[in-house]
Amino acid sequence: MRADYRPIRIGLLGAGSVGSQVFKLIQEDADELANRIGAQLQISGVLVRSLDASRDYSIPKEFLTTDAESVILGSDIVVELIGGIQPALDYVRMALESGSDVVTANKALLANHGPEIFELAERVGAQVYYEASVAGAIPIIRPLRESLAGDTVTRIMGIVNGTTNFILDQMESTGASFDAALEQAQQLGYAEADPTADVGGFDAAAKAAILSSLAFHTEVHIDDVYTEGIEKITQLDIESAKDAGYTVKLLAVCERVDDDSIAARVHPTLIPQTHPLASVRGAFNAVFVESEASGELMFYGAGAGGIETASAVLGDVVMAAKRHLGGGSTLNESTHAKLSILPIEDIVTRYQVSLEVKDEPGVLAVIASMFAELEISVETLEQSTIDSESETVLLTVITHETSERSLQKLIEKLNQSEVVAEFKGQVRVEGV
Ligand code: HSE
Repeated sequence: MRADYRPIRIGLLGAGSVGSQVFKLIQEDADELANRIGAQLQISGVLVRSLDASRDYSIPKEFLTTDAESVILGSDIVVELIGGIQPALDYVRMALESGSDVVTANKALLANHGPEIFELAERVGAQVYYEASVAGAIPIIRPLRESLAGDTVTRIMGIVNGTTNFILDQMESTGASFDAALEQAQQLGYAEADPTADVGGFDAAAKAAILSSLAFHTEVHIDDVYTEGIEKITQLDIESAKDAGYTVKLLAVCERVDDDSIAARVHPTLIPQTHPLASVRGAFNAVFVESEASGELMFYGAGAGGIETASAVLGDVVMAAKRHLGGGSTLNESTHAKLSILPIEDIVTRYQVSLEVKDEPGVLAVIASMFAELEISVETLEQSTIDSESETVLLTVITHETSERSLQKLIEKLNQSEVVAEFKGQVRVEGV
């Protein structure tokens, strides 16, 4: 074992499914990690809420403490894995102010307080590492931060929430309803008892804010991300998408719209069945990056899970430990670009629009004229029978590119039209 320097003290905040796995890996792989780093990692303490709670991996009692200050001030690197905003924010501040580098998996913290944390780190000459905050085990922060540092990222489309990907995949592959698929996700431990953060798109929105900030060198707060969840997706949406050659995914889309502006949005999206993201099944995640020079890149893997996420955390710990020994400048986020963030109304994309209309002569012409009046060009139109008795039929229209503003006007018109029995909904289309 190589250990040229005195041990590096690691303070773990949190011993949940990720924290306990990080503890286990540091203990079990101690010699190999020391060889890679040139010094041993020594866990100085593990902050927990309760000394008696049961854990995925049993941590010897002597490591556990409920005293945050003793762990933070007694460490060279602080690993924050408690999640949520407070007290995590205070702990991260205390760690940075005491001169420690910080490793965090906390997406909510960064999506809400990233600029303040990076500013503080810069001021005190510390570094914040956060690979595990987006898409679990998948390396995506370091590729954006370092590998693509010389390129210009134009667009990121990510499946960054495993729970919703599992639900949509179940709905498509088994014909399950949204409720049944959600229940299954809960039984398998993907979805929380309160699934709002996942199905409402908020977990993905935090990740979209982090990815956009990094990719576009601009401060993007979670509130800047337009967010729609998957709660309203029905079997009809899934079936009509399938018939037209698409699959439905909850995507985080981060895009450079022009030289001065960007947008970040999370919503259910139709992507062609031939798109690489369409092959991401079950609870897996993937991030598809388009850059000016590198072209298209895709990063795929487990987006959650204790040991998988611990891998990303450990990678950051090793980087932080090497910096601790070898020094080197800080590499905190640059926000020099200060691009404007466009509201959803200004976004131009394609849509699938579904409606139930009267089955009478002239109805198609009336519908077509509403699209034409708003200069929304129709790419495909599919009519299907509900049943032989029904006086209405289903229309599924896929449009060419149009603005959200025009689409909203169209929906208003369709809702008021006498030939429309029911406006069923719209889903954006990407990746064509
Ligand atoms: N709840 C998230 C998911 C994992 O389902 O992917 C943590 O971000």
